Amino acid sequence: MAKPKRYAIISDIHSNIEALDAVIEDAHAQGVTDFVCLGDVVGYNAAPRECIQRIRELGCKVVKGNHDHYCSDPSVDLDDFQPNAASVIEWTRRNISEEDTRWLYNLPLSTVIMGFTIVHSTLDSPSHFRYAFDKQDAEDSFNYQRTRVCFHGHTHVPCIFRRTTTGASHGILKLGAANGLLEQGNYFINVGSVGQPRDGIPKACYLIFTAEGMTKLSIEFRRVDYDVDAAVQRIKDAGLPERLINRLYTGQ
Ligand SMILES: [Fe+2]
Repeated sequence: MAKPKRYAIISDIHSNIEALDAVIEDAHAQGVTDFVCLGDVVGYNAAPRECIQRIRELGCKVVKGNHDHYCSDPSVDLDDFQPNAASVIEWTRRNISEEDTRWLYNLPLSTVIMGFTIVHSTLDSPSHFRYAFDKQDAEDSFNYQRTRVCFHGHTHVPCIFRRTTTGASHGILKLGAANGLLEQGNYFINVGSVGQPRDGIPKACYLIFTAEGMTKLSIEFRRVDYDVDAAVQRIKDAGLPERLINRLYTGQ
């Protein structure tokens, strides 16, 4: 019998190589067989080249996040952005290679992998990078979901939406009770953020998805300590906005 596939689903790395390396190490220790990346490889933090290189070395499927889009498409007008946000995008554009820029630009917005779907934001309008905060947002995405499970990121807050076959009942499950076998129904699961968590827990977040055939599916959210001070020192050295430092220490 074939061994179950064990995927590390990672998202919103945001140029935080210390967090990414800690997650990769944890995933290997957990017996992960494949990596999948839901986008926002760059933005906010100060190691964009290193993160792009590491993701490419993993050879994983990757979809495009909004920051990957802003940092790789010079036609995106930064006048519409907050000054702090614009300054990081400009800095990132200057600090990645032409090849990195091309790679980010050419990423797809969504894709299907062995029976599950990945997207950065929502499936109803992936190019608009809409945030899925509530049941209505999830409902809109479910209407375009053709696989039982879809993983997404973008809000940096881990969360599970479920739609049962009997109707439009969704449950936003509390994380403590979330790990384990998926019950019947369709799932739209936010895997949280590796490089800039915003759920009040300043540890890198990712999810392990185990698939034994097409029916026995289970998930496990993981939180991983990493060297926050080293990531902060990079931000200081690069002269990026102070606010980005606080976010790493507080997870907000
Ligand atoms: Fe993000």
